[in-house]
Amino acid sequence: MRKPIIAGNWKMNKTRDESLQFIYAVKDRVASADTVESVICAPFPYLRCLVKRQGASLRIGAQNMHFESEGAYTGEIAPQMLSSIGVSYVVLGHSERREMFNETDEAINKKVHVSFSNGLIPIICVGESLEDREAGQTNQIVEAQTVKALEGLTKEQAKQVVIAYEPIWAIGTGRTATAEQANETIGYIRSVIERLFGSEVSEAVRIQYGGSVNPNNIKELMAQEHIDGALVGGASLDPQSFLALVNYQ
Ligand code: G3P
Repeated sequence: MRKPIIAGNWKMNKTRDESLQFIYAVKDRVASADTVESVICAPFPYLRCLVKRQGASLRIGAQNMHFESEGAYTGEIAPQMLSSIGVSYVVLGHSERREMFNETDEAINKKVHVSFSNGLIPIICVGESLEDREAGQTNQIVEAQTVKALEGLTKEQAKQVVIAYEPIWAIGTGRTATAEQANETIGYIRSVIERLFGSEVSEAVRIQYGGSVNPNNIKELMAQEHIDGALVGGASLDPQSFLALVNYQ
């Protein structure tokens, strides 16, 4: 049985006060960590103050990091900077970073490796554009991204990654992939992982869906065979909505 993981991705939103109000509103009301992993991926400046108040069943993640451990990289954040302040997860390869910040599959793979050497669990985003989907290229795109992101991992490491399937055309558009579409592509990603690492790993890896997830569609998505959680943008910003998502059961 794979434990569901629901993560909010705040992107570049909220003031420090708003982030504190949020954490106080949700920290003792999220689902028990025995049943669901609940994560908030916040902007860098708020990570430490959120970790200090995360409570028993909520964990904090970052939205990116560099793959180098130190050096002349003005404006960048190193993996051990995150682990040293108690961050547990890191989102890697979000489509916004791939598109707007030229993040490559090679860089994402390096980041995946260093997340493990620093005790961080990577949430690796993959997903196709509308153009790709209409051209029937969805499987090829997510397969290439998955294969490259996981290259060189041991089976033990591969088991621990979280993959987020986020079709780009469904992000922030209100246009959710249907539960069946999401399940089909996520099932395909699982079959790719089976080919790469065997069935023990593919049965253990958690694969989330992301793209206009909200309290009204979470149940239907989570009822699908291959969907193990959600990576949620807009609907994770409001405390009540986030609570409804993590307490979907
Ligand atoms: O990483 C989450 C995301 O890209 C989906 O955003 O606002 O469509 O839930 P949203």
